[in-house]
Amino acid sequence: DTFTATQYNTNDATSFAHISARERWPIIITQGIDDVHRSTYLTNDEETHKEGKWIVSELARLKYELQHDRELTPIPDDGEKDVEAYNKELEAMGTSKWHSVPWLYSECYLYRRVSSIFKQTQKWKSYDIFARQKMSTFKSSRPAVLELAARYKDIVTELESKRQAKGAETQEQREAAEKVLFTEMCEICLWGNATDLSLLTNLSYEDLQKLQGSEARKASEKNILVNDLEKAFKILTTAQKEGKKERRVDIVLDNAGFELYVDLILAGYLLVSGLATTVVFHPKSIPWFVSDVLPADFSALLSTLAQPDTYEALSDDEKDAGKKPVPLSDTERANLMFLFQNWGQMYAEGKYVLRPNDFWTAGGSYWRLPGAAPDLYEDLKESELVIFKGDLNYRKLTADAAWPATTPFTEAIGPMGPGSGIRVLALRTCKADVVVGLADGEDEKIRATEGGGGDSGLRKWAWSGKWAVVQFSDGKA
Ligand code: F6P
Ligand code: MG
Repeated sequence: DTFTATQYNTNDATSFAHISARERWPIIITQGIDDVHRSTYLTNDEETHKEGKWIVSELARLKYELQHDRELTPIPDDGEKDVEAYNKELEAMGTSKWHSVPWLYSECYLYRRVSSIFKQTQKWKSYDIFARQKMSTFKSSRPAVLELAARYKDIVTELESKRQAKGAETQEQREAAEKVLFTEMCEICLWGNATDLSLLTNLSYEDLQKLQGSEARKASEKNILVNDLEKAFKILTTAQKEGKKERRVDIVLDNAGFELYVDLILAGYLLVSGLATTVVFHPKSIPWFVSDVLPADFSALLSTLAQPDTYEALSDDEKDAGKKPVPLSDTERANLMFLFQNWGQMYAEGKYVLRPNDFWTAGGSYWRLPGAAPDLYEDLKESELVIFKGDLNYRKLTADAAWPATTPFTEAIGPMGPGSGIRVLALRTCKADVVVGLADGEDEKIRATEGGGGDSGLRKWAWSGKWAVVQFSDGKA
């Protein structure tokens, strides 16, 4: 990681790290305990029950250590090879207590510790402690899901009919229209990240829906502080014009549910429009930062679309809010079915590829990618464009360090920047302190707005997902 700038630390009272370690993480563990409790009491199997109780006690112990500022202890050997790297780093840091430890490492360590509890059991090895929350939020996103399904169908149908009416448009007209669509799809994909679960622990059904509709998206365009989408578009159209046969786009995924849904919409659009020929998705391998995508979330999402009836059923939150089930209309059903079939076909044709790698759940930043995961590094160089979704990916790209806000993005991503051979596009709604590539005076200007942090020394505006940055690096030396 960088030595030029200091990483954010949980002891820094001006950083979101401070609140995260003291307030957010204990809540996340408590919710996890509730979930395991529930599953434990739903089982009739004695061993599962016994192990479930052990998991609850281990989670409670972890929460105690966190709240009482105890030392971070080595992760037990749970049979996975990444434990060694986590523990080596912990040892190298010397004494590390929860309330004064680098934010990035300690937050990754937290999720790895939780995962190791499950991996030490027989019956709960592949249990996802956050699956319930992820699915329930996806169901609460129904209005936006339906709106986008309709939009997607229109786009695909239009692109296909244009293709048949060859020659009706000039090259410039087609490119201009494509650029508008590309921007729209990417922005949908960007704001889909604003609704992640680790941050919005108290989100109501109405709040969620307000964040997701097309109205909200238009209103939010002015909140994109840097927007490099045009550069990314150029990369894809140039490759297309050059007649390159294989044109791959990678998406380093962030959250499941609604965000994964919009990622698939973007991917589908890239394939249908011919801007890409394959899309490679990079999910996580262990339950991560509450809402991150695991391979199983893919299938869960697709089967929900395939069986609209399950989608009509109410989520727990909706039931709690006293809602009544609203049946889907025939058109809505047909649109969901269209999506399912369209994506299913691309999957069957090998155009959607799922490629997990342990590196994505390691404790360090992406500055380490070339050395720590050389195969993955080489693989990403093959891609026309690697899209990094969300806040944590951005923190990892920039090493979660306190760069001056005007530091160029290409500098802050270190070895992932110039000379890496990787074309990086970060689509990030800001939910943490680090932010780079801003114009001179911009940070100060937003701090002075309501809720921006003012003179407190806190960059509060960057914590809530209200603002975003879309930044590009072409990887050339
Ligand atoms: O800032 C809150 C936080 O939990 C960060 O710790 C983390 O970087 C982020 O939210 C997770 O958000 P995302 O899902 O966008 O990566
Ligand atoms: Mg996430």
